[in-house]
Amino acid sequence: MKEFIIEGKNNRSRIMVGEKVENLSKYLPAGKVIAITDENLESLYPSMFMDFETIVIKPGEENKNLQTVEYIYVELLRLGADRSTFIMGFGGGIVCDIAGFVASTFMRGLRFGFVSTTLLSQVDASVGGKNGVNFQGFKNMIGTFSQPDFVLCDPAFLQTLPEKEIRSGFGEIIKHSVIADAAMFTFLEKNKDKALALHPEIIEQLVFSSVEIKAGFVNRDETEKGERRKLNFGHTLGHAIEGLSGLAHGESVAVGMVLAARVSNFFGLISEEEVLRIEKLISSFGLPIHTNLQLDDVFNQLKKDKKWEIDTIHFVMLECIGKAIIKTIKMKELKTVLEKIWK
Ligand SMILES: NC(=O)c1ccc[n+]([C@@H]2O[C@H](COP(=O)([O-])OP(=O)(O)OC[C@H]3O[C@@H](n4cnc5c(N)ncnc54)[C@H](O)[C@@H]3O)[C@@H](O)[C@H]2O)c1
Repeated sequence: MKEFIIEGKNNRSRIMVGEKVENLSKYLPAGKVIAITDENLESLYPSMFMDFETIVIKPGEENKNLQTVEYIYVELLRLGADRSTFIMGFGGGIVCDIAGFVASTFMRGLRFGFVSTTLLSQVDASVGGKNGVNFQGFKNMIGTFSQPDFVLCDPAFLQTLPEKEIRSGFGEIIKHSVIADAAMFTFLEKNKDKALALHPEIIEQLVFSSVEIKAGFVNRDETEKGERRKLNFGHTLGHAIEGLSGLAHGESVAVGMVLAARVSNFFGLISEEEVLRIEKLISSFGLPIHTNLQLDDVFNQLKKDKKWEIDTIHFVMLECIGKAIIKTIKMKELKTVLEKIWK
């Protein structure tokens, strides 16, 4: 087990990578704990919820919205939650994003923690204190920055994950290597087969490295005023694609990363050779490297994204594998470049 600490403005967050869920009680406070999970996890792991009052939500991005939040608020009232209640989100990125949002808003904020059960949430979504839901079709439009007391990442949960969800998690792992760690990128190239087969040592290494990178960015810039934006590499276009295509989060980010790498190359940054290496790695993990969507549709969706600031955008580009930079560019300029590289 390896522990990382995020020193949030209002809370200290412990991220336990490789910790067994059997040790969960060590991290829970005394007093009332209410679990929030989704229907899939409730039926896969019923014994996990025997000791807690549990609120079960429907799975899927289409349920990551204010209606689900309202349903949970009503259930919390019914279960007699008060300011001393601890909320435990038990699930993937969607459960964690919703549970964190509910906990940080109900009665002006309850303490909360996560048992993170997908590869994507272990390497990314449950770490860093961004909580929120989609609104009017736009990703994560309503949300808070609030750190969980703990995030428990037990690799045993990955054994029951569908293959598509495993691949989706690798999208974010690849992103971490591409923006911050060239050695990790080479490690992924060398260990692709073992990684996809969830070889315990390889997975542990990759989850450690990812959390280390993400925790580092969050510790330096919790509320995303500067450097943390680098974690959005591939997400500006990825979110727009996710909203339109029905691809999983990590799959959409994979396409977004290829496009962002191509844009970076167009601006004279990363070399063509390294762009091809990125495409090859993404594709070797079974992730898509292009979309059949029309540029106009993706761009219209992007314009409505919350990262749209008047007519400019903070777009994350690559100088090389392992080094990201943030460029503030005009939306018009981005569109012109995308027109040139769109296939
Ligand atoms: N807050 C952040 O910083 C952040 C970062 C990245 C992504 N996200 C968000 O995370 C969400 C995606 O998260 P996700 O990929 O974990 O998806 P998810 O939460 O939808 O989980 C994927 C599917 O796997 C099921 N599942 C979960 N754990 C399982 C297990 N152990 N075994 C079998 N099935 C299991 C779920 O029920 C669901 O059907 C997106 O909404 C994205 O916006 C948030």
